[in-house]
Amino acid sequence: MVILGAGPAGLVLGNLLLAAGIDCVILERSSRSHVQTRPRAGFLAPHTARILDRHGLADGLHRHGRRHGACEFRTPEGRFRLDYGALGEGVGHHVYPQQNLVTDLLRHYLDRGGRIRFDTEALAVHDADGTRPSVTTRGPDGRPTRWTARYVAGCDGRHGAARRSLPPDTVRHHHDHGVTWLGLLAEAPPSLDAVGYALHDRGFAGHMARTPDVTRYYLQWQRGTAADAWSEQRIWDELDLRMRAADHGPLHRGAFLERGLVDLACDVIEPLRHGSLFLAGDAASLLAPAAAKGANLAVLEAGILASALTDALTRGDTAGLDAYSDRCLTHIWKAQEFTGWMTRLLHAAPDGDEPAGSFFQAALRRSRIASLRTSRVHQEWFADNYVGV
Ligand code: APR
Repeated sequence: MVILGAGPAGLVLGNLLLAAGIDCVILERSSRSHVQTRPRAGFLAPHTARILDRHGLADGLHRHGRRHGACEFRTPEGRFRLDYGALGEGVGHHVYPQQNLVTDLLRHYLDRGGRIRFDTEALAVHDADGTRPSVTTRGPDGRPTRWTARYVAGCDGRHGAARRSLPPDTVRHHHDHGVTWLGLLAEAPPSLDAVGYALHDRGFAGHMARTPDVTRYYLQWQRGTAADAWSEQRIWDELDLRMRAADHGPLHRGAFLERGLVDLACDVIEPLRHGSLFLAGDAASLLAPAAAKGANLAVLEAGILASALTDALTRGDTAGLDAYSDRCLTHIWKAQEFTGWMTRLLHAAPDGDEPAGSFFQAALRRSRIASLRTSRVHQEWFADNYVGV
């Protein structure tokens, strides 16, 4: 087995295959230190925790992760709290920075004798339509190398070699929600004991805990404006304004450790299989970050693929591989639908089909928020979709 990419998808897949006695090598473009330190997602769903628990990969999560089960919506009509962790499945998220999870997964993978090559970029996947696919790579010394295996798993994200190696008739759905976020990592303790979603005429603002000392904030941002266009002071003042600090208390401020722009766009590849090449994680589909589902979907797909590959390689049963694409696409489209709903809830006319100030869109959003605030059935639906994948 050759696995492209050492993110959540590639490392969960590698660990599960090793545990099943299947030899694999992970080819990772970046360095080990980069993979283990880059801040990404941090909200792990119950299903993700179950997969990690089942395979002995959840030690760090249980030691350092923190339970989380509430959202706080701050809107022109007032603030309300939704304890989603007490609804639906009755469990919330684990807050555990992804770089910590990736570090844990890597340690387990190496402890189990897993092979990985860092600073090794996959350039292309060849002969995927046959039974001896191969991957050409460029290593740290710049020399090309060819890796051959029975199957190749593309867990190398939306810009990786796996996507580039798909046949021209592959369907590539793409949707731009028309919204851009300025993502911020603040050296400051969380200001709420909930995920904060602020809906404001000036735009969306978001608050998500990462650790007791670091908090992720998002500001809806004018597309085309540079991330460093505003001073820290101006950004904190805007965050306070949109999160209605005057009514609900000021945010804990600190230096911004990281700034980055993210366009809320999404895509889905169909099918997720091309012969002996399988896609998982961001290589399979990209989700807008509004509902924190990307990493959880990546782990779910890695679990499904690991089970199917194990059946095929240890028992010659390829039914799981044949069903892989359709099975994962069902979960992907469910996640895309809810993420699209959340994006429309949090932003005025995000899809650009009407002017942002359109009365009709604003009235729809107020109605959605009112349902979320008052209807138990709607809150159950939200909880089920918010933590589920
Ligand atoms: N060759 C080898 N490795 C590559 C290549 C390549 N050509 N291109 C990308 N990579 C590596 C990246 O360096 C990265 O480590 O593939 C890995 C992909 O990891 P992620 O981007 O984390 O993607 P994935 O495992 O699918 O996890 C998806 O996790 O990062 C969060 O929320 C985020 O939705 C995302 C989710």
